[in-house]
Amino acid sequence: MAFSSFGDWLGLLATTALAQELAGGNYKKANFAIAGVFIVRLLPAVLLGPIAGVIADRFDRRRLMIFCDIFRFGFYASIPIIHNYLWLYTATVIVEAITLFWSPAKEASVPNLVPKDKLESANQMTLLASYGSAPVAALMFSLLAGVAATISSFTSKRYASTADLALYIDAISFLYTAWVVYQLQSIPKGAASKSAVNDNIGKSLFEGFKFATQSKIISGLIFGMLGAFFAAGAVIGLARTFVGDLNAGDAAYGILFAAVFTGLALGIWLGPKIFSQFSRRRIFGASLTVSSFFLIILATVSNIVLAILLTIILGAFAGLSWVTGFTMLGMEVEDEVRGRIFAFVQSLIRISLVLVLAISPVLAAAIGRHSFVINHIHLHYSGAAFTMFGAGIIGLIVGIVSYKRMKDRPKVSFFSDVRAAFRGELGGTTETSRKGVFIAFEGGEGSGKSTQAELLKTYLESIGEIVVVSREPGGTPLGKQLRKILLDPATGAISPRSEALLYAADRANHVFSLVHPALERGDVVITDRYIDSSIAYQGAGRVLQPAEVARISRWATESLTPTLTIIMDVPAEIGLSRLNGADRLEQEPLIFHERVRREFLNLANVDPERYFVVDATQSKENIAEQVAERVSLIPSLRINRDKNKK
Ligand code: TYD
Repeated sequence: MAFSSFGDWLGLLATTALAQELAGGNYKKANFAIAGVFIVRLLPAVLLGPIAGVIADRFDRRRLMIFCDIFRFGFYASIPIIHNYLWLYTATVIVEAITLFWSPAKEASVPNLVPKDKLESANQMTLLASYGSAPVAALMFSLLAGVAATISSFTSKRYASTADLALYIDAISFLYTAWVVYQLQSIPKGAASKSAVNDNIGKSLFEGFKFATQSKIISGLIFGMLGAFFAAGAVIGLARTFVGDLNAGDAAYGILFAAVFTGLALGIWLGPKIFSQFSRRRIFGASLTVSSFFLIILATVSNIVLAILLTIILGAFAGLSWVTGFTMLGMEVEDEVRGRIFAFVQSLIRISLVLVLAISPVLAAAIGRHSFVINHIHLHYSGAAFTMFGAGIIGLIVGIVSYKRMKDRPKVSFFSDVRAAFRGELGGTTETSRKGVFIAFEGGEGSGKSTQAELLKTYLESIGEIVVVSREPGGTPLGKQLRKILLDPATGAISPRSEALLYAADRANHVFSLVHPALERGDVVITDRYIDSSIAYQGAGRVLQPAEVARISRWATESLTPTLTIIMDVPAEIGLSRLNGADRLEQEPLIFHERVRREFLNLANVDPERYFVVDATQSKENIAEQVAERVSLIPSLRINRDKNKK
């Protein structure tokens, strides 16, 4: 597959380059011709995809694949021999149509070749083989340009085309694949059962659309991913003419293509690690915006080396936004509908790629070449540069809109996140996926958290949840001992940092041995106090920095954040008057408790989606009702999941 994909990429470069070559220097004709190549490549999949899949499922897989590969070999080899537009397009359509039969047969064979538990790794290998081969093919194409130049120095130009050489290699790659499949005796004879991949495109669009519009995040994501593909499509569709406009040839085209994929790979591999502190909902739109910004700059440069550097950066941010988007789709979408949403996105991407690959060269051709004179400096801009500029603007707008739509913590600015990240104080904003629901009650002394935690438990159990109620400090055997030390006035003075570490120690053990296992089982965990108590008491209350205290707790909990935090808000005076005895912290002066209260409200204010503030001076029943109402909105509760399933 690696060799076959390598051949495929080489074929793509070759056919677009050949389309340009056959235009013989006519700018309009070259653009139209390149658009034509992309259209004939993608159209068969859109039109015939579902039918081909069904037909392919009727034949013996192994034989089908071998036949397909031999035919593909023949057609690719014939393109450089016949060497005209009509045959270039005809052969491309036929090869693509053949591929539609080959792919489902291959997909169906993979599970026969690998054990079930290795299937995911096998899929990753497939991805690596299909996309990792792109930059290799692009570099090969650049090398072939050199070879072609050498050949042309002692023979007629007709026999020294980079595209021709590349097409022959592409053809051979299919012959090789046919031979490999022939040797794979372990592919069972007979037809494959119908695979889910070949769902009707119209149906998958309609169903996916229904689900997507229900969620602000999913619809923002899909909108953004479409924008990203629009911009990327414009770059790919215009690359060959853009390179020509910069007075560079096939070799530079190959390198530019390799730069896109190198950038994408960098973004996909390193991006999530470098930006792990940021919330995904922010990274997605932000990286799309940055990438579009670089596309705009790229459109204005007229130096090929600079263009290649910019392309790597652009590709890296596009890759970052792409992985973030797919990870989020996987996390935000419930298991039952995930398949449909992915099929929806894939269909949308295909259609938008056809559109943009067809439209952008046509636009470029319509705009044509222009030159400007500013202060005696001559600037030449071609239609390709203008169109890329336009695509960059569209990407920029889409990026900003999806950032605005999806961002969490609406009152925190992007730049304050960046600043906090540099100080290492950001973090825990990226949700990790989990099965259960985690709810924390927070509040000052005598705010009635424990009572409400029990009432919420009763309510949730009445709607079929399995609930664990716990508390900090003291949720585990070790915690009980720590609690005694921390709260017993007999302990005497504890230094502020020591106190913060002891609470964090209790929390780490609590999360590790109680909260996390329960969430993994899919239960609801209600905790009486969590990280925010440390931020408020040890941070705002005592002399430490709230952000420092938060960092220790984040380390202790491996960034486990509650699905929802309920703040029981009560004036310190009233809360304290409800107590009988006083422990170490309750003995603190009123002003300490007022600071604590204000910090809780600050935390809630920043992130209204994940906090719910209740006026805790109301009656017990009133509070319980409001809490139950808010909690029942959590999408991953069993009742809500069941609703989605229907
Ligand atoms: P709490 O759990 O409310 O116990 P009770 O209501 O039974 O007295 O109180 C525990 C005390 O610990 C409370 O005064 C707040 C304090 N505390 C912190 O200072 N930092 C923390 O991180 C936590 C969890 C609690």
